[in-house]
Amino acid sequence: MKVLLIGSGGREHALAWKIAQSPLLDELYAAPGNPGIADHATLVSLDVEDHAAVIAFAREKAIDFVVVGPEAPLVAGLADDLRAADIATFGPSKAAAQLEGSKGFTKDLCARYDIPTGAYQRFKTAEPAKQYVREQGAPIVIKADGLAAGKGVTVAMSEAEALAAIDDCFDGAFGAAGAEVVVEAFLDGEEASFFCLSDGKTALALATAQDHKRVGDGDTGPNTGGMGAYSPAPVMTPAMVERTMKGIIEPTISGMAKDGNPFSGVFFAGLMITAKGPELIEYNVRFGDPECQVLMMRLKSDLLPILYATATGTLDKVKAEWRDDAALTVVLASKGYPGAYDKNTPIAHIPDASEEAKVFHAGTALKDGRLVATGGRVLNVTAFGKNVTEAQARAYALAAKVEWENGFCRRDIGWQAVAREKV
Ligand code: AMP
Ligand code: GLY
Repeated sequence: MKVLLIGSGGREHALAWKIAQSPLLDELYAAPGNPGIADHATLVSLDVEDHAAVIAFAREKAIDFVVVGPEAPLVAGLADDLRAADIATFGPSKAAAQLEGSKGFTKDLCARYDIPTGAYQRFKTAEPAKQYVREQGAPIVIKADGLAAGKGVTVAMSEAEALAAIDDCFDGAFGAAGAEVVVEAFLDGEEASFFCLSDGKTALALATAQDHKRVGDGDTGPNTGGMGAYSPAPVMTPAMVERTMKGIIEPTISGMAKDGNPFSGVFFAGLMITAKGPELIEYNVRFGDPECQVLMMRLKSDLLPILYATATGTLDKVKAEWRDDAALTVVLASKGYPGAYDKNTPIAHIPDASEEAKVFHAGTALKDGRLVATGGRVLNVTAFGKNVTEAQARAYALAAKVEWENGFCRRDIGWQAVAREKV
């Protein structure tokens, strides 16, 4: 099979690494890719926003299958256009990608199909939103409706903070994404991410993971795209997984199909495990980044036929098997992230992969033959262990061997699981 992978992050490096191991693969291309992905694929400098150019390239190279990594091209309808050109594609349609592209869309779906989630209201202007906040009181959560790179959510501990967040949204802090606002009840509990595949009819549970959204140790400081993750998430016991499948995932898949937007691709539920059980915080219509890195390390099965079955409506014919080990990834980011940071800082050395650990590239590039950091999140140091404690020790030991002066990482990725394992 000839495969084209769209994307350039750590998630896509992990996908490329795993797809490259498939005996079914003849040739792998990645657009635009990154220097880590170049170890497994031929990089192509395509403008991914130019759907006609992507289709023309796929035809020229007789690509059998396109895998779309990030959400932006999905929300822009790249998967629809590829499928219309008769090219098998992994990734949801533009209509189904609204599960991530519009928080209001997802909340309305939950209301229609009785999916447990925080009580909410949608607003197009500030004053009624503020009135609702005053009625409900704090803590309360304010969300820009659209895609805001993980930054459009304010968990307001006071009414004043909530009112300010409403003004920020409507004053354009998140551009068009903030033209509508969702105000939602605060949910208390432990978070987990639950990954599933769907071909529109069948759902296949993959695995669970826990992300670390805040930039600082002890879950402090501003939100980021994710500073590290581990899998499995211990809070997702088999009983909790079953409740999530029955109460949240299955009604979502059948509801999307009933509404005329069948979902095909991977999605993950951001869950809050509250005293009442699992409640939906949000959906994402792609693999999480950096959660994908730990999932790919743990997946024993060949990824390619699983993705292809998802895209071609035969998901009921495949299974996914997982290593029992835990995997953990630590994100190395540019100093200053998620605020402003220097670009093109040199990375002098990346240690080689071993049986139990590997460094994935995210925001890196080659400039005049030298590896530099170009993004906020730059490297993902990922390791296995018999438990999270061992995976954590291995990941930090490998991270210490990376030579990159302008990089930093959180020192406590996995802390909740490590604390549990001590007991
Ligand atoms: P999101 O971008 O929707 O994943 O939200 C970012 C983060 O905000 C989540 O990972 C949660 O930590 C937090 N959050 C979002 N919604 C709620 C809520 N209703 N209650 C408590 N925390 C929330
Ligand atoms: N790490 C969170 C996300 O990919 O949305």
